[in-house]
Amino acid sequence: MRIAIPTMILATLPVIVSACEGECIVGITNAYIGNYTDPVNTFLEQLVNEVVTKVLPNRRYASPPINLIQPIVTAYQKTAYKNLETAIFPSYFHGKCQQPNPDDPDGPWVNPPGCPNPDCNVVCGTPGSMVHFFPKLRYLAFNAIRKQLVESTTPGSEAYQAMEKMVIREAGGPKNRKRAAGTLMPALRREEQAKGQFKEVMHQTSSIMERICGGTGNGKTNGLPKCSWEKAMKEFILSYP
Ligand SMILES: *[C@@H]1O[C@H](CO)[C@@H](O)[C@H](O)[C@H]1NC(C)=O
Repeated sequence: MRIAIPTMILATLPVIVSACEGECIVGITNAYIGNYTDPVNTFLEQLVNEVVTKVLPNRRYASPPINLIQPIVTAYQKTAYKNLETAIFPSYFHGKCQQPNPDDPDGPWVNPPGCPNPDCNVVCGTPGSMVHFFPKLRYLAFNAIRKQLVESTTPGSEAYQAMEKMVIREAGGPKNRKRAAGTLMPALRREEQAKGQFKEVMHQTSSIMERICGGTGNGKTNGLPKCSWEKAMKEFILSYP
Protein backbone atom coordinates (compact mmCIF):
# COMPACT_ATOMS: atom_id res chain seq x y z
CA MET A 1 0.00 0.00 0.00
CA ARG A 2 2.89 2.38 0.68
CA ILE A 3 3.87 2.08 -2.95
CA ALA A 4 0.35 2.87 -4.17
CA ILE A 5 0.20 6.25 -2.47
CA PRO A 6 2.55 8.21 -4.74
CA THR A 7 0.81 6.70 -7.77
CA MET A 8 -2.52 7.93 -6.52
CA ILE A 9 -1.15 11.38 -5.88
CA LEU A 10 0.21 11.60 -9.39
CA ALA A 11 -3.05 10.33 -10.84
CA THR A 12 -5.11 12.95 -9.05
CA LEU A 13 -2.83 15.89 -9.90
CA PRO A 14 -4.24 18.01 -12.71
CA VAL A 15 -2.53 17.37 -16.02
CA ILE A 16 -0.06 20.19 -16.61
CA VAL A 17 -1.38 22.06 -19.65
CA SER A 18 -0.86 25.62 -20.75
CA ALA A 19 -3.64 27.82 -19.51
CA CYS A 20 -4.09 31.49 -18.85
CA GLU A 21 -4.14 31.56 -15.07
CA GLY A 22 -2.82 33.81 -12.34
CA GLU A 23 -0.18 36.06 -13.80
CA CYS A 24 -1.48 35.62 -17.34
CA ILE A 25 -5.04 36.67 -16.36
CA VAL A 26 -3.74 39.71 -14.48
CA GLY A 27 -1.29 40.60 -17.26
CA ILE A 28 -3.84 40.48 -20.07
CA THR A 29 -6.51 42.31 -18.09
CA ASN A 30 -4.02 45.02 -17.18
CA ALA A 31 -2.87 45.27 -20.79
CA TYR A 32 -6.45 46.01 -21.84
CA ILE A 33 -6.92 48.51 -19.03
CA GLY A 34 -3.70 50.17 -20.25
CA ASN A 35 -4.76 50.13 -23.90
CA TYR A 36 -8.14 51.63 -22.99
CA THR A 37 -6.60 54.55 -21.10
CA ASP A 38 -6.61 56.77 -24.20
CA PRO A 39 -10.13 55.94 -25.44
CA VAL A 40 -11.57 56.30 -21.93
CA ASN A 41 -9.82 59.63 -21.42
CA THR A 42 -11.16 60.81 -24.76
CA PHE A 43 -14.62 59.69 -23.69
CA LEU A 44 -14.39 61.56 -20.37
CA GLU A 45 -13.29 64.75 -22.13
CA GLN A 46 -16.07 64.52 -24.70
CA LEU A 47 -18.70 63.82 -22.09
CA VAL A 48 -17.70 66.71 -19.83
CA ASN A 49 -17.54 69.02 -22.84
CA GLU A 50 -21.05 67.99 -23.81
CA VAL A 51 -22.27 68.65 -20.27
CA VAL A 52 -20.70 72.11 -20.23
CA THR A 53 -22.04 72.95 -23.69
CA LYS A 54 -25.57 71.67 -23.16
CA VAL A 55 -26.21 72.19 -19.44
CA LEU A 56 -23.81 74.93 -18.34
CA PRO A 57 -23.50 77.26 -21.32
CA ASN A 58 -22.80 80.23 -19.05
CA ARG A 59 -20.28 78.46 -16.87
CA ARG A 60 -17.67 80.83 -15.50
CA TYR A 61 -14.95 78.15 -15.25
CA ALA A 62 -14.13 78.60 -11.59
CA SER A 63 -12.53 75.16 -11.79
CA PRO A 64 -11.45 73.13 -14.80
CA PRO A 65 -14.54 71.27 -16.07
CA ILE A 66 -12.67 67.96 -15.76
CA ASN A 67 -13.41 68.15 -11.99
CA LEU A 68 -17.06 67.59 -12.83
CA ILE A 69 -16.27 64.14 -14.18
CA GLN A 70 -14.33 62.96 -11.11
CA PRO A 71 -17.14 60.68 -9.81
CA ILE A 72 -17.11 58.76 -13.12
CA VAL A 73 -13.31 58.47 -12.95
CA THR A 74 -13.47 57.20 -9.37
CA ALA A 75 -16.09 54.58 -10.22
CA TYR A 76 -14.03 53.44 -13.20
CA GLN A 77 -10.85 53.13 -11.18
CA LYS A 78 -12.68 51.18 -8.52
CA THR A 79 -14.36 48.52 -10.65
CA ALA A 80 -13.15 48.50 -14.27
CA TYR A 81 -10.38 45.98 -13.68
CA LYS A 82 -12.59 43.46 -11.90
CA ASN A 83 -15.42 43.76 -14.44
CA LEU A 84 -13.04 43.33 -17.33
CA GLU A 85 -11.29 40.32 -15.81
CA THR A 86 -14.64 38.63 -15.14
CA ALA A 87 -15.91 39.32 -18.66
CA ILE A 88 -12.82 37.87 -20.34
CA PHE A 89 -11.90 34.94 -18.15
CA PRO A 90 -14.40 33.09 -16.04
CA SER A 91 -17.22 34.22 -18.30
CA TYR A 92 -15.65 33.22 -21.61
CA PHE A 93 -12.07 31.97 -21.91
CA HIS A 94 -11.81 29.16 -19.41
CA GLY A 95 -11.31 25.42 -19.23
CA LYS A 96 -9.22 22.98 -21.21
CA CYS A 97 -9.05 22.70 -24.97
CA GLN A 98 -9.20 18.91 -25.32
CA GLN A 99 -11.97 17.40 -27.40
CA PRO A 100 -13.02 13.85 -28.37
CA ASN A 101 -10.49 12.31 -30.73
CA PRO A 102 -12.10 11.90 -34.19
CA ASP A 103 -9.94 8.80 -34.80
CA ASP A 104 -10.88 7.26 -31.46
CA PRO A 105 -14.22 8.72 -30.35
CA ASP A 106 -14.42 6.58 -27.21
CA GLY A 107 -10.77 7.13 -26.24
CA PRO A 108 -9.21 9.90 -24.22
CA TRP A 109 -9.79 13.45 -25.37
CA VAL A 110 -6.98 15.12 -27.30
CA ASN A 111 -5.77 18.62 -28.13
CA PRO A 112 -6.96 19.64 -31.61
CA PRO A 113 -4.20 21.03 -33.89
CA GLY A 114 -2.92 24.39 -32.64
CA CYS A 115 -4.18 23.78 -29.12
CA PRO A 116 -3.53 24.78 -26.45
CA ASN A 117 -1.15 27.20 -28.28
CA PRO A 118 -0.42 29.11 -30.47
CA ASP A 119 -3.70 29.25 -32.44
CA CYS A 120 -6.47 27.08 -31.04
CA ASN A 121 -9.92 26.98 -32.61
CA VAL A 122 -11.59 25.73 -29.43
CA VAL A 123 -12.92 28.27 -26.92
CA CYS A 124 -10.87 27.50 -23.83
CA GLY A 125 -8.67 29.19 -21.30
CA THR A 126 -5.37 29.39 -23.15
CA PRO A 127 -3.45 32.15 -24.92
CA GLY A 128 -3.81 30.20 -28.20
CA SER A 129 -7.58 30.28 -27.91
CA MET A 130 -7.57 34.02 -27.23
CA VAL A 131 -5.45 34.55 -30.31
CA HIS A 132 -7.76 32.44 -32.48
CA PHE A 133 -10.87 34.17 -31.16
CA PHE A 134 -9.25 37.59 -31.03
CA PRO A 135 -12.26 39.37 -32.58
CA LYS A 136 -14.40 37.94 -29.78
CA LEU A 137 -11.83 39.01 -27.19
CA ARG A 138 -11.85 42.52 -28.65
CA TYR A 139 -15.64 42.71 -28.18
CA LEU A 140 -15.53 41.24 -24.69
CA ALA A 141 -13.09 43.96 -23.70
CA PHE A 142 -14.99 46.76 -25.42
CA ASN A 143 -18.36 45.71 -24.05
CA ALA A 144 -17.02 45.33 -20.51
CA ILE A 145 -15.45 48.80 -20.57
CA ARG A 146 -18.53 50.33 -22.15
CA LYS A 147 -20.88 48.60 -19.70
CA GLN A 148 -18.86 49.99 -16.83
CA LEU A 149 -19.10 53.53 -18.21
CA VAL A 150 -22.80 53.17 -19.03
CA GLU A 151 -23.53 52.01 -15.49
CA SER A 152 -21.82 54.95 -13.86
CA THR A 153 -23.56 57.41 -16.20
CA THR A 154 -27.02 55.95 -15.58
CA PRO A 155 -29.45 57.76 -13.23
CA GLY A 156 -29.46 56.18 -9.81
CA SER A 157 -25.80 55.21 -9.76
CA GLU A 158 -23.65 56.79 -7.09
CA ALA A 159 -21.39 58.45 -9.67
CA TYR A 160 -24.33 59.87 -11.62
CA GLN A 161 -25.93 61.32 -8.50
CA ALA A 162 -22.65 62.89 -7.37
CA MET A 163 -22.00 64.43 -10.76
CA GLU A 164 -25.57 65.66 -11.13
CA LYS A 165 -25.32 67.41 -7.77
CA MET A 166 -22.21 69.32 -8.88
CA VAL A 167 -23.71 70.19 -12.25
CA ILE A 168 -26.97 71.42 -10.75
CA ARG A 169 -25.07 73.48 -8.20
CA GLU A 170 -23.09 75.03 -11.03
CA ALA A 171 -26.23 75.58 -13.05
CA GLY A 172 -27.24 77.88 -10.20
CA GLY A 173 -30.27 75.97 -8.98
CA PRO A 174 -30.19 76.58 -5.21
CA LYS A 175 -28.68 80.06 -5.64
CA ASN A 176 -31.48 81.09 -7.97
CA ARG A 177 -34.01 79.60 -5.65
CA LYS A 178 -32.84 81.87 -2.82
CA ARG A 179 -32.82 84.91 -5.02
CA ALA A 180 -36.30 84.15 -6.28
CA ALA A 181 -37.71 83.85 -2.75
CA GLY A 182 -41.26 84.78 -3.69
CA THR A 183 -41.33 82.90 -6.98
CA LEU A 184 -40.05 79.43 -6.30
CA MET A 185 -41.47 77.80 -9.39
CA PRO A 186 -39.30 79.28 -12.13
CA ALA A 187 -36.09 78.40 -10.26
CA LEU A 188 -37.30 74.88 -9.63
CA ARG A 189 -38.32 74.54 -13.20
CA ARG A 190 -34.88 75.72 -14.25
CA GLU A 191 -33.33 73.06 -12.07
CA GLU A 192 -35.60 70.39 -13.52
CA GLN A 193 -34.67 71.51 -17.00
CA ALA A 194 -30.95 71.27 -16.19
CA LYS A 195 -31.48 67.80 -14.75
CA GLY A 196 -33.24 66.72 -17.92
CA GLN A 197 -30.50 68.11 -20.14
CA PHE A 198 -27.88 66.45 -18.01
CA LYS A 199 -29.64 63.09 -18.26
CA GLU A 200 -29.80 63.41 -22.04
CA VAL A 201 -26.06 64.04 -22.30
CA MET A 202 -25.22 61.17 -19.97
CA HIS A 203 -27.40 58.89 -22.05
CA GLN A 204 -24.91 59.26 -24.91
CA THR A 205 -22.18 57.19 -23.24
CA SER A 206 -22.67 54.12 -25.38
CA SER A 207 -22.72 55.98 -28.69
CA ILE A 208 -19.71 58.13 -27.74
CA MET A 209 -17.70 54.98 -26.98
CA GLU A 210 -18.77 53.39 -30.26
CA ARG A 211 -17.68 56.51 -32.12
CA ILE A 212 -14.30 56.56 -30.38
CA CYS A 213 -13.57 52.88 -31.05
CA GLY A 214 -15.14 52.90 -34.50
CA GLY A 215 -17.77 50.22 -34.35
CA THR A 216 -21.10 49.07 -33.09
CA GLY A 217 -20.07 46.48 -30.51
CA ASN A 218 -22.26 43.82 -32.14
CA GLY A 219 -19.54 41.31 -32.92
CA LYS A 220 -18.64 42.10 -36.53
CA THR A 221 -15.05 40.93 -36.86
CA ASN A 222 -13.72 44.07 -38.50
CA GLY A 223 -15.37 46.50 -36.11
CA LEU A 224 -13.72 48.58 -33.41
CA PRO A 225 -10.56 49.27 -35.44
CA LYS A 226 -9.45 51.98 -33.01
CA CYS A 227 -9.73 49.70 -29.98
CA SER A 228 -8.13 46.58 -31.38
CA TRP A 229 -4.36 46.79 -30.88
CA GLU A 230 -4.34 43.40 -32.62
CA LYS A 231 -0.65 42.93 -33.41
CA ALA A 232 0.75 44.10 -30.07
CA MET A 233 -1.96 42.29 -28.13
CA LYS A 234 -1.53 38.94 -29.90
CA GLU A 235 2.21 39.10 -29.32
CA PHE A 236 1.65 39.96 -25.70
CA ILE A 237 -0.91 37.19 -25.18
CA LEU A 238 1.42 34.60 -26.65
CA SER A 239 4.21 35.72 -24.35
CA TYR A 240 2.38 33.62 -21.74
CA PRO A 241 2.98 29.87 -21.91
C1 LIG B 1 -1.51 47.68 -25.81
O1 LIG B 1 -1.04 46.66 -24.97
C2 LIG B 1 0.06 45.92 -25.46
C3 LIG B 1 0.37 44.84 -24.45
O2 LIG B 1 0.61 45.40 -23.18
C4 LIG B 1 1.24 46.84 -25.68
O3 LIG B 1 2.32 46.12 -26.24
C5 LIG B 1 0.85 47.98 -26.61
O4 LIG B 1 1.89 48.89 -26.74
C6 LIG B 1 -0.40 48.68 -26.08
N1 LIG B 1 -0.82 49.70 -27.04
C7 LIG B 1 -1.27 50.88 -26.69
C8 LIG B 1 -1.63 51.81 -27.79
O5 LIG B 1 -1.40 51.20 -25.51
